[in-house]
Amino acid sequence: MKLISGNANRPLAQAIADYLKTPLTEASIHRFADMEVFAEILENVRGEDTFVIQPTSYPANDNLMELLITIDALRRGSARRITAVIPYFGYARQDRKTGGRTPISAKLVANLITAAGVDRVLTMELHAGQIQGFFDIPVDNLVISPVFMPEIQKRFESEKLVMVSPDVGGAVRARAMAKRIEADIAIIDKRREKAGVSEVMHVIGDVQDKVCIMVDDIVDSGGTLCNAAVALKANGAKSVHSYVVHGVLSGGAVARISSSEIEEMVIADTIEATEAVRTSSTFKQMTVAPLIGEAIKRISEEKSISALFK
Ligand code: R5P
Repeated sequence: MKLISGNANRPLAQAIADYLKTPLTEASIHRFADMEVFAEILENVRGEDTFVIQPTSYPANDNLMELLITIDALRRGSARRITAVIPYFGYARQDRKTGGRTPISAKLVANLITAAGVDRVLTMELHAGQIQGFFDIPVDNLVISPVFMPEIQKRFESEKLVMVSPDVGGAVRARAMAKRIEADIAIIDKRREKAGVSEVMHVIGDVQDKVCIMVDDIVDSGGTLCNAAVALKANGAKSVHSYVVHGVLSGGAVARISSSEIEEMVIADTIEATEAVRTSSTFKQMTVAPLIGEAIKRISEEKSISALFK
């Protein structure tokens, strides 16, 4: 097995390598003066089972190009199998036409990754599960429950808990998590008037005097979760905490969340945390390295991945 890391999230790649007790393969992935990407794998990969670890987070276009070019280098280096390990799959929110003459960028990105020459994709909490179908190769889409749920259960053991989805789209995730700990569920009925601005309408479910755990796949501007927290408090919630898989956190998101009704936000390390996140007392990171590492091991040994979630 060979593990190759792009530049998007080297700490996560190193943690996965540590879990697997396999060193990262020597590779040089850098920019030319004109910012074109160049990738050179510095070890022999002929006949190897190779895994390229690269989330397509900010800067999404650069990180995507690094992924594609590294895959091309491996293919031309005669790797036996190439798996793209994409802990955060960017462009996922552009998964349907939102109007006339608009793209389905998630499908285009899937086409690009496939055309580059991967045999399979390993990713985590896709914004929409259907994106798996944008690929005609196997896609393993890991869920976050084994990482977040034991901690939620332990930490809020003595509390009356309610798992909250900040929008209707996330209800399935919240319900699945609530079921694991026999907690109640609530859903925020949100209307988004225009792109990038979210508006909370009402809370479906009883949150009175309960500790609310909001779960979401992505926190970007933070608007969705901050507005949802206001609605939960207005409906009598005792406190509001949030567990989010992908901390995109663009613009002033960290400051907005730090001064919001959200007591604490736990995010996974699918995207490398910025200095602002690392030093904020509102944020806490949990690692997905053992989960992704175990999935890589199972792919390599041709073992079941779904067994990981039973
Ligand atoms: C939307 O469907 C997603 O699940 C997230 O709720 C959304 O992307 C979060 O965006 P923001 O933090 O900018 O409100």
